[in-house]
Amino acid sequence: MKMLGFEKLLVNNPWSKKRGVELAKKLMEFVELDKRTDFLEIGGGNGEVAKYIARYYIGDITATDIDEKQITVARKGTGSVSNLSFQVADAKDLPFDDETFDVVISFGVLHHIEGWQEALSEIKRVLKPKGYLVYAEVIYPEGISEMDKVSRFSFGLESIDIDEIKSLLKKYEFTEIHSLLEKTLVCQNYEAVYRKAD
Ligand SMILES: C[S@@+](CC[C@H](N)C(=O)[O-])C[C@H]1O[C@@H](n2cnc3c(N)ncnc32)[C@H](O)[C@@H]1O
Repeated sequence: MKMLGFEKLLVNNPWSKKRGVELAKKLMEFVELDKRTDFLEIGGGNGEVAKYIARYYIGDITATDIDEKQITVARKGTGSVSNLSFQVADAKDLPFDDETFDVVISFGVLHHIEGWQEALSEIKRVLKPKGYLVYAEVIYPEGISEMDKVSRFSFGLESIDIDEIKSLLKKYEFTEIHSLLEKTLVCQNYEAVYRKAD
């Protein structure tokens, strides 16, 4: 679901940009790369993570988002960066061949997608064997996502069940390389790195 204006302000502010890059730096430490790497980011939002990857890694990054306005924001000032491209794409129906990418990055996206399980299945499909999923999510209590659904100012918050994520990824034969669940007052922050089987 596309974000409302208020959430866009949050996602596009300097603090969110910095936080995304710091998370990418931290989680990419768990990823072993020995060659040119093809990266995909889904729901890239402000584009800062993709810019960071394009700058510091050898390979190409395709940054996608369902919202073309976010793609326009993210693309700003990147015209001369040859290994970075932006594209509108729905994470539930990715316009890429099977086994195209070495790394898929998804930060704070699935909790915006009704039927997020389809997006997870698409991630599995487009990852190469031994590819990595670099993942972060905000987990809201079910009560909050239910209240959000009936609110006039809905953020489109889906309730994500980490056990379901883990069990789907297990079924897809992904190995967990790293995971951390941190509780805050309102929600929980989950971060993880998974690797697809050979
Ligand atoms: C909370 S923002 C996170 C943005 C960025 N990843 C970050 O961490 O700052 C969620 C993003 O997911 C995008 N999004 C929502 N539904 C999507 C879908 N079905 N496919 C792709 N992107 C989607 C939104 O447009 C938005 O940019």
